[in-house]
Amino acid sequence: MDISQQHLNLEQWYDVIERALEDPGAGPILNVVDDGGVYDAIFLGGGAGGRFGAAYLRAMGGRPLIIDAWPFLGGSCPHQACVPHHLFSDVAAELDLWRWFSGQLFFPEWDPSRASILEMIRLFLRGRSSAHAFMNWQTKEQLEVEYVLNARGRLVDASTVEVAGRTFTARNLVLGLGASPTYPDVPGIGLAGVFDFATLVEELDYEPRRAVIVGGGKTALEYGSFFHATGCPTTIVSRSPLMRTPSLHHVDEDLRRYVVDGMRKRGMEILEGAEPVAIEGNGKVERVVVRLADGSTAAIETDFVFLGTGERPNSAMAREALGVAVGPRDEVLVDKSMRTSVPSVYAIGDLIGGPMEMFKARKCGITASKNIMGEPAEFDFSEFPDFLHTTYEVTWVGLTEQEARERFSDVIIIQMPPYVENLDTEHLPLPCAERTMLYAFAKPELSGFQKLVIDAASRRVVGAHHVGYGAKDAFQYLDHLIHRPDGLTIDELGGMNELFLNPEHFVQLSRLRAGRSALVSL
Ligand SMILES: Cc1cc2nc3c(=O)[nH]c(=O)nc-3n(C[C@H](O)[C@H](O)[C@H](O)COP(=O)(O)OP(=O)(O)OC[C@H]3O[C@@H](n4cnc5c(N)ncnc54)[C@H](O)[C@@H]3O)c2cc1C
Ligand SMILES: NC(=O)c1ccc[n+]([C@@H]2O[C@H](COP(=O)([O-])OP(=O)(O)OC[C@H]3O[C@@H](n4cnc5c(N)ncnc54)[C@H](OP(=O)(O)O)[C@@H]3O)[C@@H](O)[C@H]2O)c1
Repeated sequence: MDISQQHLNLEQWYDVIERALEDPGAGPILNVVDDGGVYDAIFLGGGAGGRFGAAYLRAMGGRPLIIDAWPFLGGSCPHQACVPHHLFSDVAAELDLWRWFSGQLFFPEWDPSRASILEMIRLFLRGRSSAHAFMNWQTKEQLEVEYVLNARGRLVDASTVEVAGRTFTARNLVLGLGASPTYPDVPGIGLAGVFDFATLVEELDYEPRRAVIVGGGKTALEYGSFFHATGCPTTIVSRSPLMRTPSLHHVDEDLRRYVVDGMRKRGMEILEGAEPVAIEGNGKVERVVVRLADGSTAAIETDFVFLGTGERPNSAMAREALGVAVGPRDEVLVDKSMRTSVPSVYAIGDLIGGPMEMFKARKCGITASKNIMGEPAEFDFSEFPDFLHTTYEVTWVGLTEQEARERFSDVIIIQMPPYVENLDTEHLPLPCAERTMLYAFAKPELSGFQKLVIDAASRRVVGAHHVGYGAKDAFQYLDHLIHRPDGLTIDELGGMNELFLNPEHFVQLSRLRAGRSALVSL
């Protein structure tokens, strides 16, 4: 289908995408201007990295071409990963309120039959192509980027890609091929009833009655919390302590404890130091055999297993066709300019390994484009703000308390609730702010946790940690402020104008200490 001369509206785009998703025989979608001109770059993979990189290259006056196997731009995030996860995490937070306040105030009695995993997936599936439609429309009509969709590209050499029976050449290639879920090597892993984040939305066709999650990173906590919140009893089986897997850095132990204790308070079973040794069933999952921390084994009866066991970059084609250097976890190796080992070939996003996050994918794409267009650029993603969801939004940036104490001789902490022996903080209705007011007044121990870590000598904030709701935006700016060369002092933070009640209380709490020459904890 050639749409280069057409101007489809959102409804028409929605139909094109839905038809292509349903019909494996649907042909490629071509938005290509055949004028004999030369492309500055072909972006193979039009996900977060490829789309943003191509848009930036076009904005700089270059000519990009995106090629993607799916009939839409935007990649895995809106189709199977971030967006469904955010829908599910929102739902988990709503259900959490209902469950804690069942039959109280204006809440009806908790009725698990009203909270269906399958229904939420169907809701997502009905809506997801709307965002896809918008991205296809925007990329063509507003960003003026050419693309070939619904067709898998094949790398021929460092300047050539074959797709949809045609051959395209460019001065540079930018590879944004993403990553795919990895599965533990245990017997029974292929049984029906074993899902990952992608197959969950594509294939689940029954309502799980009991869930076993494998993994202790973001995917495991986020999906596990959602399944449990719907009333599906959930066990998490994790080799490492939850949130202590190497892909998560700067996780403060007090924050971690609040999060994991909170999951247990809600009735989730959490087995740390444990791993699955077999998944059993007659054609379909019936139980998971788990080796526990003490070496014994236990069988957990279940009809649903969800794997949050990480992802591997899709680097095989780049390695085989172009000979790009690849690391031990299949990640394409790049320098800070996103250059691979092969001249004029760049790699971006999940394909180059962790952190597998949107900010990194998008900024990798932009970095590659700047370099291609002759503006030298580097991207250092060794430090970044981070988050995950349980039934809460959990956000953090900078150093943990322990990391700060190892680095600085005088560290002070501003924390809510404060740690003071015998103060009875379990009943303190603080912190309270966005979405935690009901908890603060009725179940104060559920109303969240926040901690600011400060190097007293320089007076600089070196870390911030938050459990609650609505603080993500603040953490984007805190990240920028604390990582500036000048950093952010407690005095500057205390001098800001807060929008009281604000989700994290860092401005007002800092104000209470900012006047002291010798800083002490609060
Ligand atoms: C469950 C889950 C939840 C997540 N939630 C968040 C979140 O809330 N926030 C966040 O920041 N990050 C989140 N992430 C991470 C985020 O989704 C990824 O980091 C991001 O999507 C990576 O973008 P990318 O461009 O590198 O790859 P992708 O978006 O995966 O794009 C790769 C593209 O390459 C295409 N492709 C592959 N092979 C070919 C080929 N041969 N020819 C043509 N096209 C090809 C694919 O079709 C795809 O469109 C989540 C991840 C998971 C698994
Ligand atoms: N921003 C978001 O909200 C979000 C959400 C989801 C995912 N993501 C990103 O997507 C990527 C994938 O996330 P993820 O949570 O799936 O992966 P992850 O962070 O790599 O965690 C994988 C988990 O699975 C465990 N594991 C791995 N192999 C195993 C095996 N063979 N047997 C048993 N356990 C095994 C690991 O244990 P060990 O620690 O013992 O190795 C770890 O707990 C990450 O980069 C993540 O940041 C982001």
